[in-house]
Amino acid sequence: MNVSDLVLERSNTIPDFPKPGIVFRDLTPVFADAEAFTAVIDDLAARFAGRFDAVAGVEARGFLLAAALAYASHVPLVAVRKGGKLPGVVISEDYALEYGSATLEIKPGQVAAGSRILILDDVLATGGSCSAAARLVERAGYAVAGMGLVLELQGLGGRERLADYDLYAIVAEPA
Ligand code: PRP
Ligand code: MG
Repeated sequence: MNVSDLVLERSNTIPDFPKPGIVFRDLTPVFADAEAFTAVIDDLAARFAGRFDAVAGVEARGFLLAAALAYASHVPLVAVRKGGKLPGVVISEDYALEYGSATLEIKPGQVAAGSRILILDDVLATGGSCSAAARLVERAGYAVAGMGLVLELQGLGGRERLADYDLYAIVAEPA
């Protein structure tokens, strides 16, 4: 089975979670399946091969992808954390989520200046999280190599919002 079929077969859709009207896409079964997870990481590594010097994972679910891809590609990992988790000097960006609002933060100076950083997250919805992560990466003095996602929810404006970036999602489907 190819990687997109594996993701489609393993992912779950839960209506009205965490709030009425929100359709939640649960990818934990993809991570829980060794064949599917390995295929996801291999696919992302192949799609962006030679184009990145480091990866950045968006807390929390993006960490799962970033850690595996950093290991597989032998590159450093930058943690893009939720607000208030990092000590010392941080760069912050506020953003709106599909449900609620939040802050993402990065510690500058952790990888070589000018590094091409691949941003990783599980799901693209409105693009608020990836957009904030991209602003953080750029403000920290790096270049955004692209964005790798497992699932793109179409119709919420995410891809349009991120039109300046090389955005790749293994599966894209209507929200
Ligand atoms: C979810 C998901 C993406 C983001 C997508 O994360 O994991 O990061 O929302 O939505 P967007 O494109 O509209 O920003 P969430 O912030 O809910 O938390 P988690 O990853 O910590 O579970
Ligand atoms: Mg997330």
